[in-house]
Amino acid sequence: MCILPRKDAGGEIGPNLTDEYWKHGGSIQDIFTVVRHGVQGTNMISWEGFISPEKMQNVANYILTLKGSNPENPKKLEGDLYVPKAVSTDSTKTQASL
Ligand code: HEM
Repeated sequence: MCILPRKDAGGEIGPNLTDEYWKHGGSIQDIFTVVRHGVQGTNMISWEGFISPEKMQNVANYILTLKGSNPENPKKLEGDLYVPKAVSTDSTKTQASL
C-alpha cells in the first residue's frame, strides 16, 4: 500500500495516498468505499467483516489527514486530480434550494 508495508503512505504496491491524485476518487466516501470493498483484481483487499464500519470511517479520515505530508521518494502520480466540491456559504441559496 499505502500504509503497509510503507508507513508514510507514499505508495509502493498501492498508490501514494498523500497527494491529490486518486484512482477511485478522493472524497471521504470514495476512500471509505475502497477500504470497505477493496479493489477487485488488485492487491487491495476488502476490510468488510474484519473491522467495523466505524473503524473503516476512522481509517478513511486518517488517510485524508496525510494529504500534503510529502513523503520522501513518493510513487509517481496515479489517477486523476481530485478537487473537493466547494461548500456554499450563501445562506440565501441554501434556503432557496430547500
Ligand atoms: C490499512 C491498510 C490499507 C489501506 C487503508 C489502503 C487504502 C487504499 C486506498 C484508499 C486506495 C485507493 C487509492 C486511490 O484511489 O488512488 C488503495 C489502493 C490500492 N491499494 Fe491499498 N490500502 C491498504 C493496504 C494495502 C495493501 C497491504 C496492499 C498490497 C499488498 C494494497 C494495495 C493497493 C493497490 C494495488 C491499490 C490500487 C488499486 C488499483 O489499481 O485500482 N493496499 N488502498
